[in-house]
Amino acid sequence: MVNIYIPYHGLLFSLFRCSVKKREPNFSSRAGFGRFFVETAFLFPAFWPCFFALRKQYLNKILLQKGLESMKKITRRSCLEKITPYVPGKPVEEVERELGISGVIKMASNENPMGPSPLALQAIEKHLHRLHFYPDGNCYYLKQELAPFLGVKSGNIVVGNGADELITLLGAAYLEPGDEILVGHPSFSEYDFSARLMEAEPRRVPLHEHRFDLKAMAKEINPRTRLVFLCNPNNPTGTTVTHAEVEGLLQELPPEVLLVMDEAYCEYVDEESYPRSLELAKGRENVLVLRTFSKIYGLAGLRIGYGVGSEEIIKDLNTVREPFNVNALAQAAARAALEDREHFQAGFEANAEGKKFLQEEFERMALSYVPTQANFIFVDTGVDSRALFQELLQRGVIVRTGDIFGFPTFIRVTIGTREQNRYFIKCLEEVLKELSK
Ligand SMILES: Cc1ncc(COP(=O)(O)O)c(C=O)c1O
Repeated sequence: MVNIYIPYHGLLFSLFRCSVKKREPNFSSRAGFGRFFVETAFLFPAFWPCFFALRKQYLNKILLQKGLESMKKITRRSCLEKITPYVPGKPVEEVERELGISGVIKMASNENPMGPSPLALQAIEKHLHRLHFYPDGNCYYLKQELAPFLGVKSGNIVVGNGADELITLLGAAYLEPGDEILVGHPSFSEYDFSARLMEAEPRRVPLHEHRFDLKAMAKEINPRTRLVFLCNPNNPTGTTVTHAEVEGLLQELPPEVLLVMDEAYCEYVDEESYPRSLELAKGRENVLVLRTFSKIYGLAGLRIGYGVGSEEIIKDLNTVREPFNVNALAQAAARAALEDREHFQAGFEANAEGKKFLQEEFERMALSYVPTQANFIFVDTGVDSRALFQELLQRGVIVRTGDIFGFPTFIRVTIGTREQNRYFIKCLEEVLKELSK
């Protein structure tokens, strides 16, 4: 009746009732009584001025509740349940502030401890005044320079916002719900992420003696397999497979399955038998090689990596990428970094020296480690890596714990500068003594 005679208050009343009904049922009896009193009072016109005065407050409450209810109704895709978000470490500055120390050393993300090439820094500075323009969406000049460097055509190259982006784009281009990707385990986690995002499943094949077991992987290929990710050198073990082993896998690979050779660390490799991946990619439609400027080129903060494959694959990846996926400073810096062979060589040599030093130190300390071909080492410390991590952190050294890879007593440590490596070993010895007391 009220609704008919006084439309405004009728609306208010029905909204009020509606909101009351939708509340959670666990009212205390006092609240229930209050509600009853308010509703009954509303039926008497003498109380309407009070309601009029309070209408704003009521309406706000009701609208807020409606807003919250509609928020609850946003449905996330079910695949999100299966994705463990990447947990980034705290910024070094924050760690320093919290611990009240300075000079914290990050040996956790396999970056180049020497930093970027000075030529790259100059190129960035030179480009700063052009930042109001969008970047070149085709990375034209970078591809022009990469092509002869790699011995391929521009049309065989796709550039991404880091190799990470290209891994995600591979999922977007090639995976349907229910498809499978084949990965080694433990390996780089972005492959799983790319699959899960597309409602596809990663099929994990355990490593054998810390190396990819390509024969075992070949046996796991089935009609649902779409992508095979070969991380070479593998993160976190630093191990490689040989050219002959990859050729063997390719013989077993159906033409509709794409082999992705992730070579983020290839520039550090010194093994003769390392695959000549570009050669393998050149002759085939179903091989894509991924590389990055984040590691030996020291440009991780700019996010730039590239893929090399057949024109068809490159076309597919260009179809699913954003038009301006690679920022202008990254393009300028990458071109300059590619030119600076001196800086590249110095990075390689420093890494080789650091690798030798750390591996010898691990031997002296009787710690078992996986001989590496990359810029990090996977080492068994024999103690809980999380406890070790905390103790090293207190001393200003950040490493990666092995539990995330299924190896709770291992850590993955990035090879640092000479001073960083020495300091790390000193701290590690101290901490191990303490933890084994
Ligand atoms: C094996 C591997 N692939 C790709 C990447 C990502 O490279 P980017 O920094 O170019 O995204 C990493 C980074 O750590 C990696 O370890």
